[in-house]
Amino acid sequence: MSLLIQGATVVATPRGTSALAGPGQSVLDLLPGAVVRCDGRDIVFVGEPREHDRLFGAPDEVLDAAGGTVLPGFVDPHTHLPFAGYREDEFDRRIAGARYAEIAAAGGGIVATVAATRRATFDELLALTLHRLDLQLAGGTTTTEAKSGYGLDLGNELKQLRVLREAGRRHPVEIVPTAMPAHEVPPEWRHDSDGYVELVVSRIHPAIAAEGLAEQVDVFCEWGVFTPDQTRRLLADAGRFRWRIHLHADELCDLGGAALAAEVGAAAAAHLLHASAEGIAAMARRGVIAIALPGVSFFLRERFAPVRALVDAGVPVAVATDCNPGSSHTESMPAVIALACLGAGLSSEEAIIAATLNAAAALGRADRLGSVETGKQADLVVLDAPSPKHLVYHFGVNLVRHVVKAGRVVVSDGARV
Ligand code: NIG
Ligand code: FE
Repeated sequence: MSLLIQGATVVATPRGTSALAGPGQSVLDLLPGAVVRCDGRDIVFVGEPREHDRLFGAPDEVLDAAGGTVLPGFVDPHTHLPFAGYREDEFDRRIAGARYAEIAAAGGGIVATVAATRRATFDELLALTLHRLDLQLAGGTTTTEAKSGYGLDLGNELKQLRVLREAGRRHPVEIVPTAMPAHEVPPEWRHDSDGYVELVVSRIHPAIAAEGLAEQVDVFCEWGVFTPDQTRRLLADAGRFRWRIHLHADELCDLGGAALAAEVGAAAAAHLLHASAEGIAAMARRGVIAIALPGVSFFLRERFAPVRALVDAGVPVAVATDCNPGSSHTESMPAVIALACLGAGLSSEEAIIAATLNAAAALGRADRLGSVETGKQADLVVLDAPSPKHLVYHFGVNLVRHVVKAGRVVVSDGARV
């Protein structure tokens, strides 16, 4: 099956098979009037229409970009998708001035979602997850990371990850599953977090690995959650399980999470609002990707991560939704791309690279995803806009008109096909 995308004003893409850092993170190639030819799952040609016609015959299918912009499909490298229940009540309290930490201390926060997720059946959780994947896809996301971490016991962590496995079989969005039983200390272990850490290390992580349910592991290293030493202990078997390491680091205060991410060889560290200059330098030295979550800063009305300092220090920056019911309830990559620029100060080129190639690199997929280049998988978005800058400049509307996943049109004129 071959597909030709023609009629675009411009094809805009980063280049390469690894994350871009520093000045490189601004280099978004613009190919005016280019066409993209897909064969099977892959891109086989990007360039001038006349050159295409010289090299290839008629395609099986043509997608008319109608003067729009072609971009790589968005990669969302940090979400908490499989959750049940909502927390709009605490959202109201926050708008009225209550702080996230206050609400958590009063029994709200993550623990409220843990209770609802434990109550949910497999089928209920699957339906919720599939619906969120639909919303992601409508916004141009073609690959997403997704974590457990609202189960916090063996059975419920396995339930969340099995839901992700089943959702991945049914939905075109590619899912990168992450084990995160260390997202919070569960209520029944509140007075013995070391005991819970041992349970995770001795039972929960091995059971997840035995079923092959995760590719990555994540820990919420934070004041009042897991200490740096507990985090080291929790990551002790990551190598044996061949899990890529991601961390939630330096969100509420500087616990040295950025430096810890470098120390343990993490692929990526997320949040980083309070990361120190030394921590940032350590990340740059080890090539740890920073995952900015500007939706969280917006939603919690907190400061933005120091993305300019990260880029200037040579840390590759990615951007993610952090989709979850407490601190960033959105599936929209275009929304967080706009916030990464308007709130945190990235340029539109830097933000688009953060949402494509750098995000793919954070998930170990930059060899196959994240750019519109010959040899990469054909994951593409067609925007109803004459330039990629409109993604930020024309904010708050969904400009995604068509989405192609692995060479197949999966959203056409804004509707699932
Ligand atoms: O990434 N920081 C920790 N975990 C989530 C929030 C989860 C919740 O509030 O339910 C986050 O922001
Ligand atoms: Fe998160």
